[in-house]
Amino acid sequence: MNSLKTPYFVINKDFLDEELHKLKNALQRSWGNYIVGYSYKTNAFPWVIKYFRDNGCYAEVVSDDEYELAKSVGADKLIYNGIAKSKETFFEAVRNHSIVNIDAEYEINWLAELEPNNYEVGIRVNFDLESKCPGQTQCGEDGERFGFCYENGELKRAIDKIEEKGVKVVGLHLHKSSKTRMPDIYRAIAETAVEISEKYGLKLKYVDIGGGFFGGLSSKPQFPEYFDMVAGILKQCFDPEETALIVEPGMALIGAAVDYYTSVVDVKRTTRNTFIVTDGSRTQIDPLMTKSSYFKEIVRIGSEPRQVFERQIVSGFTCMEHDRLFELSNELEILTNDQIVYHKVGAYTMCLSPLFIKWFPAVYVKEGEHIIKARDRWTVAEYKSRCIGDKEK
Ligand SMILES: Cc1ncc(COP(=O)(O)O)c(C=O)c1O
Repeated sequence: MNSLKTPYFVINKDFLDEELHKLKNALQRSWGNYIVGYSYKTNAFPWVIKYFRDNGCYAEVVSDDEYELAKSVGADKLIYNGIAKSKETFFEAVRNHSIVNIDAEYEINWLAELEPNNYEVGIRVNFDLESKCPGQTQCGEDGERFGFCYENGELKRAIDKIEEKGVKVVGLHLHKSSKTRMPDIYRAIAETAVEISEKYGLKLKYVDIGGGFFGGLSSKPQFPEYFDMVAGILKQCFDPEETALIVEPGMALIGAAVDYYTSVVDVKRTTRNTFIVTDGSRTQIDPLMTKSSYFKEIVRIGSEPRQVFERQIVSGFTCMEHDRLFELSNELEILTNDQIVYHKVGAYTMCLSPLFIKWFPAVYVKEGEHIIKARDRWTVAEYKSRCIGDKEK
């Protein structure tokens, strides 16, 4: 890999195979009747979405653009979630009997325009996770904004309104993005699915517990911990013969399968610090600037003698001062041409990073000892594509 021009991402296919296999095994053992919907938003890189398509996963999409992307790669098993659906794609998905989870009032209103045909939909549930798992939710006391609120009766009103339009509610979607990704989040989700279904006498074809699991980290909860517990609760009310368990993992599958390779291009010494300047950037692997550490490897190239430096700050190529990735204390100095490799950077990176100062880097796929290029680095041509008046200098 050392001969490839940095920066670039590498997707480790063998690792993906293993994780997907573990996920499917855990679901098969605990519930049997399951669907894996790969979460496009987590990383919709074309090779990645084709990989999940080829491995029997549904495409979990949350906008008309993602919906069209799924169609463009021939992914015809779809879960259509979110609040960014277009009316046209919404109708198409309902008519094609895709799994469509309603998340907005205007979608319910659109149903009035559908011809009667015993169509079926699911609905996104908003329930108060913060009271069940204090301190674990992303928005704390402010609560989450997605779905229809169960506790204040909005969910029941929405279900009734959908059914008045001759459309059946056959699924509950209960995805929650938590800060902790811990199994008790899924206990609350499963208990809420049981409670709602019993209270409203719903006959559900699926319970969709969403994504948000850990994956690819031996120190964190493993798939069976989540699904055995969820299955134990769902069995109080649902029969796997009739009700499928849907999961929508993103991070758990793609997060740990991707590495980012960078090189040191310069070393700057100031009176206050030593800055290691690389051709990578924090914007590529931490676009939301929230990470405090990385799984990383420093490859010191050559046999030159090196001193120990009290402090070295590894930084990126952008002109933002806070494009600093990590700091080394009392470690061997890093020199120009050394490599820094970041591991487990596949989630919310390649498809969330900005086109800031430099265009998207190359992407490779590694399978066994084979490496194939899956994307050339972007050039001005891709950046300027779709611009009007591009002929002018
Ligand atoms: C509806 C839905 N499903 C699945 C996911 C995937 O979550 P993760 O990548 O944490 O597994 C998300 C992420 O926000 C989501 O909003």
